[in-house]
Amino acid sequence: MSEEISNNALAPVGVFDSGVGGLTVAREIMRQLPNEKIVYFGDTARVPYGSKSKDTILRYSRQIVRFLKTKNVKAIVVACNTASALALEEIRDEIDMPIIGVVKPGAKVAVEKTINKRIGVIATEATINSHIYTDYIKNRDNDITVFSKACPLFVPLVEEMWLKDSVTEEVAGRYLENLKEEHIDTLVLGCTHYPLLRNMIGNIMGESVTLVNPAYETAVSLGELLVKNNLSAGNVYSYSGEMYDFYVSDAAEKFKRFANSILPFRIENISQINIEEY
Ligand code: DGL
Repeated sequence: MSEEISNNALAPVGVFDSGVGGLTVAREIMRQLPNEKIVYFGDTARVPYGSKSKDTILRYSRQIVRFLKTKNVKAIVVACNTASALALEEIRDEIDMPIIGVVKPGAKVAVEKTINKRIGVIATEATINSHIYTDYIKNRDNDITVFSKACPLFVPLVEEMWLKDSVTEEVAGRYLENLKEEHIDTLVLGCTHYPLLRNMIGNIMGESVTLVNPAYETAVSLGELLVKNNLSAGNVYSYSGEMYDFYVSDAAEKFKRFANSILPFRIENISQINIEEY
């Protein structure tokens, strides 16, 4: 098996996000593809992306892709929904390696899950205003009605780790009350941070609503993409924390605390870089 694997297949996968949220995607890749090395970049100096313009998000994403290329990655996962919505298509045309985002996989699974053809999408303002989830969903099935809601306060609440706090519950109740009235049967958690509020959102929406976590489906799509491009690491590596390198643009200690609360192993070394140099 190992002789059939090219050197390029042994290279890491680059994963990036505006900050810590993309760790929910990295975590899924670690679970599903334990042989893949990962170089993760979190743009902690410039988070949030969700309230910024397309031009800015595109500029940031281009810089990050240039940085990841210096790490000789074999493929890139845009783990940030906002960057997937606003920068992925342009960047795909500019680079010569496989790249995927989180929006398409999330939209695909939502279409597969809905029975009553009423899907809710919650995400950042930039993602919702891009209409990308609605477009992908309706492209697959035009009979589906999509109900969208931006939930900007979820990001800082998750960053504070107020995952079970009554304040977060109050905010979630307000954000979700209109969606509840629309009788959706499927809800896309269209922002990296929202899967960490999964239990709370699930309790508010009730058992009849299926929650879609694009992170899970993205890891499935990445596995397929690597195999299709002969880039899968196969069985070469065994699962361990040393396979993963973490870079941030600021506040490495805070990133480390967050990462160690959600990853299945402890990380010690996080390197801070000046992303504006790329
Ligand atoms: N990572 C972003 C996303 O998934 C959320 C945080 C931000 O606004 O930058 O859309």
